[in-house]
Parts: sequence; structure tokens; C-alpha cells
Amino acid sequence: MYQRIETDTQSNPLLPGYRFKSYLVAGLTPIDAGRELDFFIDRPKGMRGYILNLTIEGQGEISDGTQTFHCHPGDVLLFPPDKLHYYGRAKESSCWHHRWIYFCPRAYWIDWLEWYSRKQFIGYISLSNSHVFDEFDELFHSIELTQQSGRRLSEELSMNLLERLLLRCMEEDPKNPQKIMDPRIIEACQFITNNMSNTLSVDEIAHHVCLSASRLTHLFREQVGINILRWREDQRVMRAKLLLQTTQDSIGNVGRRVGYDDQLYFSRVFRKHSGISPSEYRSHHSHLSYAGIE
Ligand code: FCB
Repeated sequence: MYQRIETDTQSNPLLPGYRFKSYLVAGLTPIDAGRELDFFIDRPKGMRGYILNLTIEGQGEISDGTQTFHCHPGDVLLFPPDKLHYYGRAKESSCWHHRWIYFCPRAYWIDWLEWYSRKQFIGYISLSNSHVFDEFDELFHSIELTQQSGRRLSEELSMNLLERLLLRCMEEDPKNPQKIMDPRIIEACQFITNNMSNTLSVDEIAHHVCLSASRLTHLFREQVGINILRWREDQRVMRAKLLLQTTQDSIGNVGRRVGYDDQLYFSRVFRKHSGISPSEYRSHHSHLSYAGIE
């Protein structure tokens, strides 16, 4: 067993160097002793999005930087953004087959990502019986198939299935007390979403929800998990993708509708999030639907 640190860029998500640029990527990693995938996944700074991980066979060994623990079939793990990933096959086991979903959440999912059962920063639940395990296995698999289906709305449909999976995880988390998000943060999210084409300042948003700018920034990060302006950028790109797929608006207009008057800047932000330009994104998606893949 050896380690590889992710550095380069390549197109297989099971190997180091793949750049996770979409909002959702899902797969199955079948690690067998001595085979090609038998190395420790090593991402010292974690990833930009979350990862859900379901062990389906064998055992994994997971580290949180100070301690290690093992996971078994029916264990579901949730890795939050920007936190160490260091995991691989447990040496006692001849294999570790796990399904996984990498995703950037929709704003209103945030409460569902606060798992109460965890090992340090890693959410950890054990599914209660084999029926629930089969249900989760199937749901993970459907998300993967849907995301790879090439349909025009494959990302939205897979995000929709993922919503169900996250809700089921909450139900299966025995310690979840159903925490409620601060109503001022919900209102701030709503306000930003309703005014996506305006460039509201943090001061204006704070004023709208009766908080100081610094209090809002702090509370938002605490409850939503990311910086407020970065959250808005994520929402803008998500909406832009949908508009590119479902309307014939010009690129400039799509940019304006999500708050970017400067088309060059819009393209730069879009590329930063998705790895391609808005027009490439549009032609890729229309190409898939014209090809009759739907
Ligand atoms: C794959 C890993 C899997 C998960 C995804 C994001 O390469 O095998 O466990 O970390 O990347």
C-alpha cells in the first residue's frame, strides 16, 4: 500500500489529479489489495465541496489527522469542505469498496449537513438494517447513473435524488435533534436569491435583516459553512447554468440576470466554477439533447 498526493490533472475521478469542477460527481471506488486503486486518498486540504461515502464491502481506514477509525458495510460518512481527506483500505481487509458523491450543496440543505453523529469533523452513521442498506446503496447508485446519463437536466435530477438521500441520512442519524437555522440567515439567503441581478453589498443585506455587517458575516459562516459572498457566487453560477440550459438568452443577458453586468467577468467566474466557458457549457448541453440521449 502506498500514498499518492493529488497534484496533476486527468480525467478519471478514481485517480489522483482529477479536478472536481461540477456541482455533483458520483462514483464507486472498488479497492482490492495490491490492485491499481490500492492507495490512500490523500487530500491535505480536503475539497471545495462535501463528500458522502458509503462502504459496501470490506473495510476502510479513515484518519482525521490525529486518530484513525474503521468503517464497515452500511457505514455512511460525510466529509465537510476544506477538511483533510486521508483514507484507504484497512490493512486487515482484502478490499474496501465504497460509493461516494462529491457535491456543492444548495443553500437550504445546510441544516441537513450538520450531522450530530460524528467522529471529530467527519459525519458518521451506521445504517440500522439490511433493508436500509439496500435502499441507500440503490440511491447512491441512481445518483451516479443519473449524473452520468447525459440528459439535459442530469445535474438537477441527480441533485434532486441527493436531496432525498440527505434527508434519509438525517432520519437515520440517531442523535439529530432537528436544529433550526437562525431566521435572519434564512431571510438573508432569500433576499440574496430574490435580488440576484443586483450587486447588493454585505451592508445592504445586513441592514435588511437588522444585523451589523460583521455580525451577519460571522453568523452566516457559522450557520451556512461558507463566506456569504462566496455563497452568492455559487448560487449565481448554479442559476446561470440552468438559464443556459433552459433559455435562449444571450450569454451577456444570462450574466446580467445573475448579477454580472460585465460579460468578461461573468465568463471568468463561470469558468472558475465549472472549468469551461458559458458558451461551451451551453453547446455541450444542447449537443447532448440534440443527439437524442434524453
Ligand atoms: C475518488 C475516491 C473517493 C472520493 C472521490 C471524491 O478518487 O476514490 O473515495 O474521495 O474521489
